[in-house]
Amino acid sequence: MKKVRIALTGYGNVGQAFARMLTRKKDYIRETFGAEPLITAICTKSRGAAVCPDGIDPERVTDDMFDRSADAMTVIRSGEYDVMAELTPINIMTGQPAADHIRTALLLGKHVITANKGPIAWHYRELRDLAVKQGVQFRYEATVMDGTPVYNLTQETLMGCRITEVSGIFNATTNFILTEMERGVSFEDAVEEGRRQGFVEADPSMDVDGWDAAAKLTALMNVLMDVRITPDQIDRTGIADITKDDIDEAAKAGKRIKLICRGRVEDGRPVGTVKPTLVDRDSLPAIMDATSSYVTIDTDLMGATTVIEEPFEPEIDHTAYGVLSDLLRVLKTCG
Ligand SMILES: NC(=O)c1ccc[n+]([C@@H]2O[C@H](COP(=O)([O-])OP(=O)(O)OC[C@H]3O[C@@H](n4cnc5c(N)ncnc54)[C@H](OP(=O)(O)O)[C@@H]3O)[C@@H](O)[C@H]2O)c1
Repeated sequence: MKKVRIALTGYGNVGQAFARMLTRKKDYIRETFGAEPLITAICTKSRGAAVCPDGIDPERVTDDMFDRSADAMTVIRSGEYDVMAELTPINIMTGQPAADHIRTALLLGKHVITANKGPIAWHYRELRDLAVKQGVQFRYEATVMDGTPVYNLTQETLMGCRITEVSGIFNATTNFILTEMERGVSFEDAVEEGRRQGFVEADPSMDVDGWDAAAKLTALMNVLMDVRITPDQIDRTGIADITKDDIDEAAKAGKRIKLICRGRVEDGRPVGTVKPTLVDRDSLPAIMDATSSYVTIDTDLMGATTVIEEPFEPEIDHTAYGVLSDLLRVLKTCG
């Protein structure tokens, strides 16, 4: 049976959840694609890299398998893999070093899948064109709304439609904080509760200040609307200045405050906004509680389609599925 060698660049929450899911679905992959997926390399920042051409069992990863002197770029340049999964932390301001990892793998003619939205927000067009030139797949489903199909939906199901606008709630942390504040919880306590539940970062400023939402909006616009925009070009306001009084006033008027993202092309120019917005209590964004999110895709041929991501336990499996679904598409397309 044909072996498909996978190099994991980054082995944190997503890398490990993906590796476990891959093990669960090995029989399905063998039967459906006639392929044996093997994780042959794992790269980290602190432990260096583990390389094993016969495959690494995710249940049996130990520290002594890692060579501290080997860094991710050395492993990526070796080319000893068929698919590289880029799962390192995002740098919202540059998309690096993930973009360099991806470019290097593509230049070697390797397929790349990623959950890291930084490269899509900053370097999408260059990486997409390089993948096309090299005749390989570059896939990134998990970068927005985890495994909920957004890119795949538009690329495969809404074929022929021109996307005229994308909008929605893209950041779970801010939606959770606003929802908690409506219940009378303070901003600080809501952040703390989110941390306790494991989805709010130690430093939540990238979420609270709207940067994460701006990066996701940018990624969606670049891919779905074929524009060139970067997160710093988004007209962005976070939720740090929203007070309990603002929320109470909105409630009195039959409204809720939501961090709404919207992207469209105006006079030939891409325009993106991330802003706390008053929405009617019975409108779609208003019913997105806690960690739910949604995206509405407006098209020229069939109006709007909305996809909702519902909370799911364990949450990380949503993201792992996004990465797995990319791998399955690589296997389907490339045999
Ligand atoms: N977590 C989620 O729910 C979620 C959802 C959607 C998308 N994503 C995206 O998925 C990516 C991974 O997220 P995560 O939660 O798995 O992050 P994480 O838990 O912080 O893990 C990151 C991994 O990358 C490694 N790493 C960091 N810098 C590296 C470098 N320069 N070279 C090689 N490896 C490096 C880290 O090494 P060490 O082990 O040494 O620290 C770690 O293994 C991020 O881009 C994130 O935005 C995450």
